[in-house]
Amino acid sequence: MRIGLLGFGVVGRGVYDLTAPREDMSVVKVVCLEDVTLPDAEVTKNFQDLLNDDSIDTVVEAMGGLHPAFEFVKASIEAGKNIVTSNKALVATFYDELIPLAKEKGVCFRCTAAVGGGIGWLSELERARRMQTIQKVGGIMNGTCNYILDSMTRLGLTYADALSQAQALGYAEANPTTDVEGIDTWHKVILSSNVAFGISLVPETVPVAGISRIKATDVENFTSHGYVCKLISTGKCADGNVSAYVQPTLVPTTEPESVVPANYNLITLVGSASGRMSFYGQGAGRYPTAYNVVQDCADVLTGKGFYSPYGGKVSAKNTDMLRYYVSGAADAWLDEITEERWGDAVITKPVSVEAMHTWLKDQPAAFIAAFAE
Ligand code: HSE
Repeated sequence: MRIGLLGFGVVGRGVYDLTAPREDMSVVKVVCLEDVTLPDAEVTKNFQDLLNDDSIDTVVEAMGGLHPAFEFVKASIEAGKNIVTSNKALVATFYDELIPLAKEKGVCFRCTAAVGGGIGWLSELERARRMQTIQKVGGIMNGTCNYILDSMTRLGLTYADALSQAQALGYAEANPTTDVEGIDTWHKVILSSNVAFGISLVPETVPVAGISRIKATDVENFTSHGYVCKLISTGKCADGNVSAYVQPTLVPTTEPESVVPANYNLITLVGSASGRMSFYGQGAGRYPTAYNVVQDCADVLTGKGFYSPYGGKVSAKNTDMLRYYVSGAADAWLDEITEERWGDAVITKPVSVEAMHTWLKDQPAAFIAAFAE
């Protein structure tokens, strides 16, 4: 396999290092804007150099972001090149264009590292779904949020201090919005649901609530009542109805999610034959992520295309009725649905996920956490 690599940052460098000693694949050209010199690969700033090189059969996209990653990947597919990417935003956002195009052109499209970094989640989901009906996917899919919530719970840190530590350790970016507002997890659960259920979820119908408004007093409340707060994603399919959402969730201390430490992920599927299966590991980092990118390249060598058949667009219907913890808000609707109080916070009666997230949009300071089903 002759690889053209887009991007030479954290993941791109890792891919270069892990492929270097292999005989079945090699990075022959790298597109990056920095001045880099590599012993075994040509480096160019011009994507056309890669696109026009007919000897390159596979493009590894490790540049991140939507543009120009989308244009580069689309052009590469049209030129008949296989795609391996770790870019969950790209795949979740342009699923409807890229997956059918890859199928039409007969090229492989793999993105295992896009969900769970070093965990072979999507490739295992691919195997799981061919034998049974997948009923549910989701779990802890963001290491940065888990690190922050874990530090607040176990070490009693404030949100600001936990975030600073996550940034110092390189988990959280200088601008942490994508992680802490749940957008990264949102992309991952959309992509996982698409693969699991053979659909193409309409992203706007998948509500997301992040962790940025959580306070130390909320965490004290959870601990004293026997719960641990985690950012949990959910994708479910039953009788043709799909529900999907991302929200802080209160997990009883008896559940495995409650003890997931630091920046680890724990991603779960429930299948009609297998029941629950959970996958635990490093959700980010140079070599864990590059490991799965290179695994995908090895799968491309065996002719593995995409993970599941492409299905049409589906809107999530989030009618699940859940109880919620709500802090930092007071209004008439909240009064109506209040079941009990934990100090200043409210515990609601069961309300639909859709109703709670619709209400949250007009609440600039409210923090919500659902009670796990
Ligand atoms: N920023 C992500 C995380 C890793 O913290 O899990 C890349 O998806």
